[in-house]
Amino acid sequence: MVWLKPLLPLLLFVCFVHGGLVDDIVNAIVKAVDCGSCHALLVPLQGLAHLGDSAFSNTFIALCKHLKVQDPDVCEGIVKQQGPLLAHDLRSISPFGQTATKLCDSIFGLCQPPAINKYTVPFPKPAPKNPKVFTSQGRAPFQVAHFSDVHIDREYAPGSEANCTKPICCRNYAGSTSPPKMPARPMGERNCDTTTSLAQSMLRAISTNNTFSIFTGDVVEASLDNSIRLVDGLQRFNEEMSTILGAPVYPTVGNHEAAPVNAFPRSTASKPNAAQWIYDIQSQGWAKWINTAGASQVAHYSGSYSAVHPGTNLRIISINTVYWYKANFWLYDSDKQQPDPNGILAFTVKELQMAEDAGQRAWIVAHMPPGRQDTLQDQSNYFDQIVQRYKNTIAGQFYGHSHQDQFAIAYSNYARRSAETAVSVGWIGPALTPRDSNPAFRVYDVDPDTYEIMDSRVFRTTWELYYSARATYGPLVGVQPSEALGPAFWHRVTEAFARNDTAFQQYNAFLSSGFGVKACNAACKTLTICGLRALRAQDNCQVSKPGLNFRKRGEEEEEGGEHVAHGGGGRIDDCEGGGLGSIFSQLPQRLSKSPAEREKVRKVIEESLALSAAGL
Ligand SMILES: *[C@@H]1O[C@H](CO)[C@@H](O)[C@H](O)[C@H]1NC(C)=O
Ligand SMILES: *[C@@H]1O[C@H](CO)[C@@H](O)[C@H](O)[C@H]1NC(C)=O
Ligand SMILES: *[C@@H]1O[C@H](CO)[C@@H](O)[C@H](O)[C@H]1NC(C)=O
Repeated sequence: MVWLKPLLPLLLFVCFVHGGLVDDIVNAIVKAVDCGSCHALLVPLQGLAHLGDSAFSNTFIALCKHLKVQDPDVCEGIVKQQGPLLAHDLRSISPFGQTATKLCDSIFGLCQPPAINKYTVPFPKPAPKNPKVFTSQGRAPFQVAHFSDVHIDREYAPGSEANCTKPICCRNYAGSTSPPKMPARPMGERNCDTTTSLAQSMLRAISTNNTFSIFTGDVVEASLDNSIRLVDGLQRFNEEMSTILGAPVYPTVGNHEAAPVNAFPRSTASKPNAAQWIYDIQSQGWAKWINTAGASQVAHYSGSYSAVHPGTNLRIISINTVYWYKANFWLYDSDKQQPDPNGILAFTVKELQMAEDAGQRAWIVAHMPPGRQDTLQDQSNYFDQIVQRYKNTIAGQFYGHSHQDQFAIAYSNYARRSAETAVSVGWIGPALTPRDSNPAFRVYDVDPDTYEIMDSRVFRTTWELYYSARATYGPLVGVQPSEALGPAFWHRVTEAFARNDTAFQQYNAFLSSGFGVKACNAACKTLTICGLRALRAQDNCQVSKPGLNFRKRGEEEEEGGEHVAHGGGGRIDDCEGGGLGSIFSQLPQRLSKSPAEREKVRKVIEESLALSAAGL
């Protein structure tokens, strides 16, 4: 290459000094097939990170482009934003420690999660001997709407290409010249995020009939966004919820609320306050619904807060579960295992104890359900201890993140999962974004004395009723008229799924609200039911697999659905949104083992190091 000529001396220098390192990197990537070889790969990657952030990022931008993992501009965008964080992680940990194992699980799917680090969550008081009994008086239920994962794309451009090669389509990308093969329609498209008009239409549909709403997070598509657009996106949606809905909303923080996506540093990090601006914006935007005290908590407890809904005995506890999320690469910046990053567990305990002391019922509201494969097992286990301790106070848990219409059950004894040992239900709401499913939201009928859910109705697409959980599943499990749709009910539903494949396949179609329903064979069904019976991640029957964690949704078809649970599992890419893992996890498979190709890759890395050394 002619333009490299002036760099030739530098290139020779780089070959001389770093030649061994470049060899080591290429060899280690090729050999990365299991947990041990993944640890070994981290050694030369750490060496690369020590050459500096730009050497590290430039190398992976070049590799991403050369191996065609993404479009060149996408390679550049993602790695530039997020590469420095991974380089920082690698410089801060031992390649052979437990954090490295967790990183190898998260980013490459090459390690299984390590055994749970035993930790006993401290409680201010033991569980009461005679817990308060909440009894239904049979009064008329009130309505609560639950919507999630709105993923609004304010840059959605009608007429732009709706079938593109980027992580998100329907945008006017620089350099796209040819007329679109599939012009984006005004209201929305598959492969694209939510238009402003679709989001407003949903809010108007919800506004007609509800006491309050729950919004379980993910406002924008942040993967390629800068933070100025993110600020605007968060503020605009807060305003729209406020003006269109009228009634209060109890929101929570999603993994897409950070720029770069998923990057929420812990309080112990080198940049502990890098996400504070998000909490400050939401503290202001949510204050009208959660009062001064709640708003102050949002700013001081990393986005978490609690508020009693006026005129009720119900405390809503909204917590930020992004500190338990495997794709948050700030969680791998130290070898020290922290049981409770940013005190989210302690906050939850404090608020639940207050509810118990006051004789209130509580709802947990959060973005990421704690039972999926993308949750760190330690924190999921500790959170489960809290659920066990306060099971009498918690009347429901509400999540989003999966983009699927789901539920998951917690048990007092996971070795004996039954209707008798079922203690709590996670209601995992469908997404608004049309990317993976038909847009949908739920309306719950809530008993005003117990705050338990009597029915859950899903509305989809043009906001017509899709189905009622009580009407659909009740007859299969013999539900009594006064019985709430509680943990025992949902366990019986999973038993009905196991024996009645028609009922299970109907649930399988509900997952995506009827869009692009994927076949789920016997093995897939077993795994899916296991996922429904696991609000604790260590029990979801999932196994980490190379390159699988970050595969795009839909690619699982290649496996014939055999080893893949539908909905229950939660591979990281489901929700990770164009993060670094979507590039890194592909490298070992893409790097051909032929000597000629390896030589080419060697050259690519050497050139990128020479450019970095030249400060380019
Ligand atoms: C999108 O484009 C790809 C490649 O050009 C093509 O194979 C596919 O059928 C298109 N999808 C739709 C929905 O048109
Ligand atoms: C609206 O609320 C009433 C009671 O307040 C309830 O009976 C009715 O089912 C609700 N309708 C919808 C569509 O949620
Ligand atoms: C199986 O489930 C289907 C769909 O819900 C239902 O119509 C049917 O009656 C069920 N069969 C039995 C034997 O319960």
